[in-house]
Amino acid sequence: MQLSAQSHGVYLHIPFCAKRCDYCAFATFTDRHHLTGSYLASMRADIRRAVDAGMPLATSVFIGGGTPTMVPAHELMAVLGEIPLAPHAEVTVECNPDDITDAMMSKYRHGGVNRVSIGVQSTVPHVLASLGRTHNPDNVQYAVEAVRGAGFTSFNLDIIYGAAGETLDDWRKTVNDLVVLDPPHVSAYGLTVEANTPLASQPHRHPDDDDQADKYEIVDDAFAKSGLVNYEISNWAKDGHECAHNYLYWQQGNYDGFGCAAHAHKDGRRWWNVRTPDRYIELVNAGDSPESASENLDDETRALEALQLLLRTKDGVPIDSFGSEDLEFMTGMLETRGDRLVLTRAGRLMANEVSIRLRIPVTNK
Ligand SMILES: C[S@@+](CC[C@H](N)C(=O)[O-])C[C@H]1O[C@@H](n2cnc3c(N)ncnc32)[C@H](O)[C@@H]1O
Ligand code: SF4
Repeated sequence: MQLSAQSHGVYLHIPFCAKRCDYCAFATFTDRHHLTGSYLASMRADIRRAVDAGMPLATSVFIGGGTPTMVPAHELMAVLGEIPLAPHAEVTVECNPDDITDAMMSKYRHGGVNRVSIGVQSTVPHVLASLGRTHNPDNVQYAVEAVRGAGFTSFNLDIIYGAAGETLDDWRKTVNDLVVLDPPHVSAYGLTVEANTPLASQPHRHPDDDDQADKYEIVDDAFAKSGLVNYEISNWAKDGHECAHNYLYWQQGNYDGFGCAAHAHKDGRRWWNVRTPDRYIELVNAGDSPESASENLDDETRALEALQLLLRTKDGVPIDSFGSEDLEFMTGMLETRGDRLVLTRAGRLMANEVSIRLRIPVTNK
């Protein structure tokens, strides 16, 4: 998937959750639901201001959180309606399986959404409990039926491996249950210990590297057999169902971000908004920018970051992105495809170690 000069992403952040998962470090709140109406109104005002200032047509929109499905569908669609879309734009909403109904999916579909991402995480009750998730795994099948019933042909299922108490058989069950649902796209993330989360302070619940590597091989084998191609370390898709919005991030495309804690990027300048919904509303309503801080990437940092991001994808990096000694040291982790070096599965399991050996090819300097 290639970016064009017209590619432009938009991220909308919905910072409300029913309950906080103890591994999650995203900006989301369980005690601010009373702000929903004013928050969405501020987002609309913020978007209108950006459109008036010349925001390009969006080629992809990602509505994430938090839990977007916690806010009324028609109000969320009104926010989406403020964004001028390019023809064939990809528009995704992150959904909690328990919240999905036929009526909600129909409103999303009519509001311009053409892709949903469902946070399944696991289909094994004790693993969901260990992750602190509240949904009933039986609802996942219903959710997928509702998504298909509303006419969505593209959707993603998110799963996580490495929760305390999750056996290899538990993980096989989750993976097999997903294969039966025949999704066009799956993201499987290793549980990550994020700083300042309850999980961070409980080392006995931290995931084990070897266990996570075994689980990665299980998921990769199962999806490969069912026609899902690994196109980024944690993402598998059928042909034509790769996520355009993620590709935009991986190719350092430009995007705007609306809502608290939303990030944005334009040509090497990155910025992000204030973290709380209260502050976001206050600033937007006062006519001020909700931007909290920014950074400018110099050319060299940008070029190195481009390689680090591409290395994780099936596109790989130019052949001269590693020194010959490093290449020898990493035998078996990279394979040549045309004029690119692409991670093998062994390499995908060691991606961070491979990545630190990247160097900017002479051709890019
Ligand atoms: C931030 S959530 C937003 C969507 C929705 N609230 C949900 O949980 O499905 C997006 C994805 O990030 C995953 N995630 C959040 N924190 C994570 C962590 N520490 N390690 C791995 N995945 C994580 C979630 O489980 C979810 O699949
Ligand atoms: S993982 Fe999702 S549901 Fe859990 S706290 Fe984070 S945003 Fe909310």
